[in-house]
Amino acid sequence: MKENSIRETSLEHAGRNPVLDVDSVRKDFPIFTQAVRGERLVFLDSAASAQKPLQVIQSISECYESQYANVHRGVYWLSEKATEAFDASREKIGAFLNSPSSSEIVFVRGATEGINLVASSYGGTFLQPGDEVVISHMEHHSNIVPWQILRDQKGIVLKVAPIRDDGSIDLEVFGNILSSKTKFVSITHVANALGTVVPVKEICDMAHSAGARVLIDGCQAVPHCEVDVQKLGCDFYVFSGHKLYGPSGIGVLYAKEELLHQMPPYQGGGDMIESVTFERTSYADPPQRFEAGTPNISGAIGLGAAVDYVRSIGLDKIAAHEADVLGYATECLSGRNDIRIIGTAANKASVLSFMIEGVHPHDVGTILDQEGIAVRTGHHCAQPVMDRFGVPSTTRASLGMYNGRDDIDALIGGLERVKELFN
Ligand code: ALA
Repeated sequence: MKENSIRETSLEHAGRNPVLDVDSVRKDFPIFTQAVRGERLVFLDSAASAQKPLQVIQSISECYESQYANVHRGVYWLSEKATEAFDASREKIGAFLNSPSSSEIVFVRGATEGINLVASSYGGTFLQPGDEVVISHMEHHSNIVPWQILRDQKGIVLKVAPIRDDGSIDLEVFGNILSSKTKFVSITHVANALGTVVPVKEICDMAHSAGARVLIDGCQAVPHCEVDVQKLGCDFYVFSGHKLYGPSGIGVLYAKEELLHQMPPYQGGGDMIESVTFERTSYADPPQRFEAGTPNISGAIGLGAAVDYVRSIGLDKIAAHEADVLGYATECLSGRNDIRIIGTAANKASVLSFMIEGVHPHDVGTILDQEGIAVRTGHHCAQPVMDRFGVPSTTRASLGMYNGRDDIDALIGGLERVKELFN
């Protein structure tokens, strides 16, 4: 145990040069202008959903104020404007992921829908009874349950790659799970409950050598590091807009064009067809084939604005800044016998999950909230991760680009209060 208090530990780090001008970034986010319970808002729950910059809010408001109509359906001026903005957003997202073509970008409601789409359409068509799908022990429920549904429907076998005590994946063990029976690997890029950065490039290479397709859940990665789907070589990549400073209810499925062309529709309806008679329907080419019904028009446009915003700040700067703040937070909480950090892998992004001895995480969250500090407490929709570490839940502080060391100092101060109240 360290001799000094949590606060003293945090003060040791004061005075380093920031990589990012956090004060200037915060000015872009109107939510930070308000006080919460009379205190400055310290928002440490971006892994659940990030706050929105004015640029995103304005793009949505402009969409409804001056360019709103349904897309891909009207021959009139407003519909053309809306369609242009909607399609431009797809282009921006394609460029953001370095996708070879924007036709490989499918708008979905979020990463959850993206994974369900792939499990249902690709898995339901191309996986056969007895085929193995490999996930890892650190997955969010959204990357477990769709495969269990497929298992129950098709008789596939679901295999779970174990994780080490620090929350990292052992590639040798992972490799031993792969065989000629493995037809699909679906794995997170950054684990939401632990913060572990998974070596997804290596995993793609290993899975492809075994003849399997790979989906990467990039929800917790795209706000924190550059993603290049061509360099990764993944077959599918999904993320949610709301964690990338964009609107909720919109997300992205990237898929290799050749696969999208082979896959049947996930849902039927308007805009996904070529022609319909009562006898027979032929389907539109991707991505429209997978976008039945009126899409989330303002959401897609807002997500395009979010991508513009993140790129204007620079993901390299964001990553370096967040690494500094996470390192600072980790040092402050490490080595104490009253605090257990859950997830201590060498390569982590954004997330610090922990337990305070003798205090339930919900109590920690409630006391912190009294000081305007927002953290998530619970199982983080990753119950198998909690089981792996033998805890029912954790307190999770997660970072966005607007968090600075001052937020960690506030958190540390709040945790001192928790300890005082429970002593
Ligand atoms: N998946 C989100 C989280 O990790 C909601 O909190």
